[in-house]
Amino acid sequence: MVKLFLENLDKFEGKKIKVFACGPTPMLKALQAVLLEHNIDGEISTECAMACGFGICQGCPIEDKNNSSKYLLVCKDGPVFNIKDVIL
Ligand code: FES
Repeated sequence: MVKLFLENLDKFEGKKIKVFACGPTPMLKALQAVLLEHNIDGEISTECAMACGFGICQGCPIEDKNNSSKYLLVCKDGPVFNIKDVIL
């Protein structure tokens, strides 16, 4: 998917685009790298094993890119995050 996106990236040159994606974390991580490199905005729907599903067990953390000492919770703060806000 990321390879296909890169192959067609020139079609969007000069246009403001935003990418919405879901899928396995390694793919989202690769997509995140490409989007950040090309300064393209995006939203990703993350997947995570959850226990409680409402923010009590702290079992679904994802690193907060804007605050290195803080984690976001996929169940409570997400599961959709801006590509610039999380470290996959
Ligand atoms: S599943 Fe329990 S805090 Fe997210």
